[in-house]
Amino acid sequence: MSEAPHGAPIKTPGQLIAAVIAGFGVPVAILILLAVYVNNSTRTGAGTDIEQSVNARITPAAQVDIRDANAPRVYKTGEEVFKAVCSTCHASGTAGAPKFGDSGAWGPRISEGYDTLLHNALNGKGAMPARGGTNPDDYSDFEIARAVVYMANHGGASFAEPAQPKPGEAADASAAPGASGTATATGAIGASGENTQAAAAVAALASVPQTAAALAASGADSAQAGKALYTQVCQACHAAGVLGAPKFGDKEAWALRLKDSMDTIYNYALHGKGAMPPKGGSNASDADVKAVVDYIVNASK
Ligand code: HEC
Ligand code: HEC
Repeated sequence: MSEAPHGAPIKTPGQLIAAVIAGFGVPVAILILLAVYVNNSTRTGAGTDIEQSVNARITPAAQVDIRDANAPRVYKTGEEVFKAVCSTCHASGTAGAPKFGDSGAWGPRISEGYDTLLHNALNGKGAMPARGGTNPDDYSDFEIARAVVYMANHGGASFAEPAQPKPGEAADASAAPGASGTATATGAIGASGENTQAAAAVAALASVPQTAAALAASGADSAQAGKALYTQVCQACHAAGVLGAPKFGDKEAWALRLKDSMDTIYNYALHGKGAMPPKGGSNASDADVKAVVDYIVNASK
C-alpha cells in the first residue's frame, strides 16, 4: 500500500501543501500580524503628535487682537491685572517693590491712603514705572486701580473695590497729569511684549545699587561720576534700549530728545518720564544725575 520506502511523512500532494503552509505560511502570518500590531500602535501615537505639531505650526505667529471700540468694555479684575503686569515685580519684591501679601512692607504704604497709592501706581514712584509700564489703552485707570486694591488688600488694607466707569464715560477720565507722557513711552512696550521687556528692566534694576554715597565719597570729578553712575544705573535700560529708552550712542534717538532744552532733559532724568524712573531708580544726587545726562548726551551727539 505504501510506495514510500523511508516512511516519509509526506505522501500525498495534500500533505505537501499542508506542510508548506505549516513551514512558511504560519511564520509569515505571525510576522504580518506582528508588523501590523507594531505599526498600528506607533501610528496612533504619532498621529496625535503630528496633529499637535501641525496645529502649533499653523498658529499665527502674532495673534492680532481686534477690539470693537463700540463693544461694551470688559474690564480685567485686579487679580488679572496683577498676574499679567504687576506680579513681575510685586510677586517676589524685585527692585524693592513691596511684596505681594507682605503686610510688613505694605503697612506703611497703606497708611498713606488709597489715593496716594493709586496716584503712585499711575504716575510711577522710584523704580516703580508709571502704570507698571503699561499703556493706558491696554489697562485703564480703573483696571490699575483694581490691581492696587487687590494688592493692598492682600497686604492688610480693606479698600473698597473702585467704582466701574459707566459705559461711554472714558475709563481714563481721571488720568492724572503726566499720563500723556506715559502714552508715548509705553506705546512701544505694549506693542512688543511688555512682559519680556519689563522683566529685562527688572532684572537690570534689581542690580541697581544705591550709588549716591559711593560716588560722593569717591570725590570723582563730574565726568567720571557721570560715567560711573551710567554704568551702575542707567545702562540697565539705556544700553539696549529697554522699555523704549533711547539707546546710548544712538545719535538719531537722541537728536529727537535734544530738541528740548538741556534743562528739560535734566528734569526728565531727575523726575522720570514715562517708563523712565526718576533718577533711573537710584538715589543719586541731582548733580550726579545731571553729570550722567551730560555723559550720555555727549556720547550720543
Ligand atoms: C518694574 C517693576 C514694577 C512693576 C511692573 C510694578 N511695580 Fe509697583 N512698585 C515697584 C517698586 C520698585 C515699588 C516701590 C517704589 C518706591 O517706594 O520707591 C512699587 C510700589 C508700588 C505701590 C506703592 C506705592 C506707594 O505709594 O508706596 C503700588 C500701589 C504699586 N507699586 C502698584 C503697582 C501696580 C498696580 C502694578 C501693576 C499695574 C505695579 N505696581 C507694577 C515696582 C513695580
Ligand atoms: C528702568 C529703565 C531706565 C533706567 C534705569 C534709566 N532710564 Fe532713562 N529712560 C528710560 C526710558 C524708557 C526713557 C524714554 C522715556 C520717554 O521718552 O517717555 C528714558 C529717557 C531718558 C532721557 C531722555 C528724556 C527726554 O525725553 O529728553 C534721559 C536724559 C534719561 N533717560 C536719562 C537717564 C539717566 C541719567 C539714567 C540713570 C541715572 C537713566 N536714564 C536710567 C528708561 C530708563
